[in-house]
Amino acid sequence: MLDNIKGLKRTHYCGELRKDNIGQEVVLMGWVAKERNLGSIIFLDLRDREGIAQVVFDDTVDKNLFEKASGLRSEYIIAVKGKIRERSSINKNIDTGYVEVLAEELRILNESEVPPIYIKDDDNVAENMRLKYRFLDLRKPSMQKNLKARSKFYKVTRDFFSNEGFIEVETPMLSKPTPEGARDYLVPSRVNEGKFYALPQSPQLMKQLLMVSGIDKYIQITKCFRDEDLRANRQPEFTQIDLEMSFIDIDDIIEVNERFIQKAFKEMLNIDLEVPFNRMKYQEAMDRFGIDKPDLRFGLELVNLSDCVENCGFKVFESSVENGKSVRGINVKDGASHYSRKNISKLEDFVKDFGAKGLAWMKIEKEGISSPISKFLNEDSKKKIVKKMQAEDGDLLLFVADRDKVVYDSLGNLRNKIAQDMDLIDKNEYKITWITEFPLFEYDEEEERFVAKHHPFTSPMDEDVDLFDSNIENMRAKAYDLVINGDEMGGGSIRINNPYIQNKMFKAMGFEDSEIEEKFGFLIEAFKYGAPPHGGIAYGLDRLMMLFTGAESIRDVIAFPKTQSATDLLTGAPTELDSNALEEVHIKVIK
Ligand code: AMO
Ligand code: AMP
Repeated sequence: MLDNIKGLKRTHYCGELRKDNIGQEVVLMGWVAKERNLGSIIFLDLRDREGIAQVVFDDTVDKNLFEKASGLRSEYIIAVKGKIRERSSINKNIDTGYVEVLAEELRILNESEVPPIYIKDDDNVAENMRLKYRFLDLRKPSMQKNLKARSKFYKVTRDFFSNEGFIEVETPMLSKPTPEGARDYLVPSRVNEGKFYALPQSPQLMKQLLMVSGIDKYIQITKCFRDEDLRANRQPEFTQIDLEMSFIDIDDIIEVNERFIQKAFKEMLNIDLEVPFNRMKYQEAMDRFGIDKPDLRFGLELVNLSDCVENCGFKVFESSVENGKSVRGINVKDGASHYSRKNISKLEDFVKDFGAKGLAWMKIEKEGISSPISKFLNEDSKKKIVKKMQAEDGDLLLFVADRDKVVYDSLGNLRNKIAQDMDLIDKNEYKITWITEFPLFEYDEEEERFVAKHHPFTSPMDEDVDLFDSNIENMRAKAYDLVINGDEMGGGSIRINNPYIQNKMFKAMGFEDSEIEEKFGFLIEAFKYGAPPHGGIAYGLDRLMMLFTGAESIRDVIAFPKTQSATDLLTGAPTELDSNALEEVHIKVIK
């Protein structure tokens, strides 16, 4: 028979008990984390969301109570009434380690089967088990901590933007496709046969409409849905802090957001950030780091060697430069002894995944240069390379020759890999930068046309508007990303509010009028009735939470996340539907 809770009221959370409580009578309720029965005394760790308290059942004080307590097992739920006393053996590792509760009353409120996973932080439980038994996994202190921190961050965010005069507005989940570049999650309509809603990839179009409506400053913490390849910091269903402002330019948006990030770091990490943050143009980021979200916590910058290798003797380099490609390298300081030939060939495999055809290298050693391309290169070019890369004894130089895109991709990612391999990253450091002046368009090789790099409503830079008819490749956007420690935490832009420019934009991307009408007709229509100058930004809240909690995986900051293959191991979603359910929404599944 189970006991009930009647007449008992919890006085404290387990994790709250301190020396000050000594002598007090308390009532605790929680889960049995651990029991040690020493024959005449039982020590029990009781757990709730605030921590662990030690409860003692003493045979010599109350025989019946002791008897009852000896039936307790892990994860049973109990209520205990008792007196706080000082522990005989103090545990300085936990906040409640100075005191214990001498039990006077025990109620067993529920039993538990033996849990399939350990409820302990440092147990290497396989992640699929953690996700399947998420309700148990979330009992772990680290997961409770992450969820609490997340809750705190919602409040920090809402308080900040509310104080700044932002209005929180909810936008629909059942909507039309949004142009963020991923695939949509679709929802069939029952009452409108053959028609589908799309779950929003972001509230982009709605927030722009809200600016037309005169909301002026909008904020929302909202779910977004993107059917895309999942990586360590991506989920199909994730949360954005989404905002938009009217009557502003780039600097106004950046200014408010720097204060927001400053506030967030103070509240979440007790770190004082200096504003303004660093700003770096997209092209500079690419040239120096090969990537538009550079991790600035370490060096290993790219060096353009195209001018050193023009007549160098090594055909691969020479012909690259002749064909308008480039040759760039990274100097891995003290890398010569760190990477054996075998390990360098692993690096070569790594860059091949990014399209590189090879990875040429040189080790600078006391005896001279050791390198498979040394025999091809003439002395003069070697000297130039060594000088330009500031190479010294012990350094390893790595080179890729190819189209800029391939060179940037391979060396940019290689740079991050080497920093990890060689442990060059200070985990306690935060390097923040805005990346600005992104290209307005990028060429989509699959679709063989230009697409908007950010989205089709992003405004070109004023200086570049004239290039629509001559050189759209070189047009830059009023777009900005916030990058922290090599991760894109947020991104946004100033939007187009001039119908003439909007039309140019669509035309440049090869949209037919009918397509524009069908996809964005409602927005174009709205813009006819007085659209203020406006712009905004959205943050990946989950990514910011990874930063604030130090979590390695985005799944550790989300209560019920999906796996890398977009499944939910807890509920089994997505599941098949029976034929009736499908028929109701007018769907026939073709296998
Ligand atoms: P963007 O597509 O850059 O911009 O998204 C904004 C931020 O959302 C986060 N993010 C993700 N986080 C987790 N999982 C994902 N799959 C995922 N995809 C994106 C990133 C990113 O910086 N509407 C525009 C914003 C604007 O222009 O105002 C937008 O959605 O941290
Ligand atoms: P090969 O002459 O093809 O055997 O190449 C000699 C060296 O040059 C090898 O170490 C290759 O990895 C490297 N290599 C080949 N192509 C490229 C390239 N496009 N960029 C950089 N290194 C390359």
